[in-house]
Amino acid sequence: MTIFPSALTLKDLQESDSADPLATVRDRFVLPEAGVYFCGNSLGPLPRATKGRVHEVLRQQWGQDLIRSWTRHDWIDMPLRMGDKIGRIIGALPGEVAVADSTSINLFKLLAAALRLRPGRNVLLAEEGTFPTDLYMMQGLVDLLGGSYEIRIVAREALLSGQAFDPDVALACLSHVQFRDGALHDVEAMTALARDAGALVLWDLAHSAGAMPLHLHRWKVDLAVGCGYKYLNGGPGAPAFLYVAKHLQQSLEQPLWGWLGHAEPFALEEAYRPADGIRRTLCGTPPILSLAALEAGCDLFLEVDLEQVGKKGRRLGHLFLQLVDETLEGLGIEVACPRETSLERQLRGSQVCLRHPDAFPIVQALIERGIAGDFRAPDVLRFGLSPLILRYADLWQAVASLREVLETRAWDQPHFHCRGAVT
Ligand SMILES: Cc1ncc(COP(=O)(O)O)c(C=O)c1O
Repeated sequence: MTIFPSALTLKDLQESDSADPLATVRDRFVLPEAGVYFCGNSLGPLPRATKGRVHEVLRQQWGQDLIRSWTRHDWIDMPLRMGDKIGRIIGALPGEVAVADSTSINLFKLLAAALRLRPGRNVLLAEEGTFPTDLYMMQGLVDLLGGSYEIRIVAREALLSGQAFDPDVALACLSHVQFRDGALHDVEAMTALARDAGALVLWDLAHSAGAMPLHLHRWKVDLAVGCGYKYLNGGPGAPAFLYVAKHLQQSLEQPLWGWLGHAEPFALEEAYRPADGIRRTLCGTPPILSLAALEAGCDLFLEVDLEQVGKKGRRLGHLFLQLVDETLEGLGIEVACPRETSLERQLRGSQVCLRHPDAFPIVQALIERGIAGDFRAPDVLRFGLSPLILRYADLWQAVASLREVLETRAWDQPHFHCRGAVT
C-alpha cells in the first residue's frame, strides 16, 4: 500500500493535515500544549464539552433536583440511552447496547450467559496474547463453575482455519484488535465461522470502538463488550458497554442479578425476575456523573463520519511505519504490528507497535520529550493513533524523537529504568 512513493517529508505530512476533513475536531479537546499524545487507546483525552456537561449535572440535577432527577432527568434510563448512542457508533440496533460496570464485569456477565446458551459444550476459547482481564474473567468463571469447563488458549491460525472450533467449543472470547500488536480480526468472517461450528463469539471491542466504523448488526455479531475510557473519551474509569444481539436477549441469562436488571425494580419483590431486553444485563445503580462525562465523549462521534475516522487511523499508521522504515534503520527497532498491503484488507487496528529489547526505558525517554506512548511488556513500544486528535505532522515529531533517543542512547539513564505500578 503506497501513499507517498518517495521518502516522506514533513511537508508531505503538513499537506495531509491541510486536506484532513477531521482536522478541526482536535480543537474540541483539551490537549497538552506541547508534545504528542499517543495514548488515546489507553485513556482518551478530555473533550472540551465534558466540563460543562458534568457541571450541569452537578449544579442542577444533583445540586437542586436531587432525588427527583431519577425521573426528571431520566437518570434511571441513562444506561440504555447511552447504550443507544454507543450503538450508533458500533453499528448496533436501538436496544442492543447497555452502558454499565467495567469491561471486566461485562465480560463476566456475557461469558456466563454465553455458556448457558450453549449447554453440553464445555470449552471456552481464547487467543494467545489476549488482554489478561479477558483470561482472568474466564478463569474466575470456570473456577466458580466447579471445574467442568476448560479454557483453551489457541494461536490465531487455529481460529482462522476453524481448527480450534471442535464440537465441544461453546464460545470464543476474542479481541477485535489485539492490545499488544494491534492485529485486527475480520469480525464478520470469524463470527460466521464460529456460528457454523455451533459456537458463539464474544468480541472485546476495547481497542476498536471509536477508532473505526463497526457494523455489529450487519456483521451478525452475537455478543460484545467495550471500554468507555479509551477511544470514546469518557474519562478515567468511565463505564463500559455491552452488546447483545436482539435475537439472543430473551433467552440471555446473566448471573449478576442486581435489582436494576429486575423486571420491576420498585416492586421490591423477593424473587428475581429479569427485565425484558437489554435491561436485564444491568445490575446496580448507574454512575450518573461518569455517564454524563461519557456522553460528552460519545456525542462527538455522532457529529463525525466514522468512515473518515477509520481511514485516517489507517493512514496515520501507514505513514508512521513508512517513517520508521525510512529513518530508523540499523537502530534495533522491529515493527511488531501487521503491515497492510492493500486498502481492501484491513489487518491492523489504530495503533503502531514497535519492538526493542529496551522498550521500557525508551518509552520513558520519549515521555520526557513529550511523546506519550506506552510500554507493553515484555518489549513493545505502543503508539495509539486517535484519529480525532492526531495530526499527520505529529508523526514526524514522534519518529524524530525516537531516532534521537536511540542514536544518543538517551534512554540509558538510571531514572528511565525505574518501573512504577503503572507502565
Ligand atoms: C482489550 C481490553 N479489554 C479489557 C480491558 C479492561 O477493561 P476494564 O478495566 O474496563 O475492566 C482493557 C484495558 O486496557 C483492554 O485493553
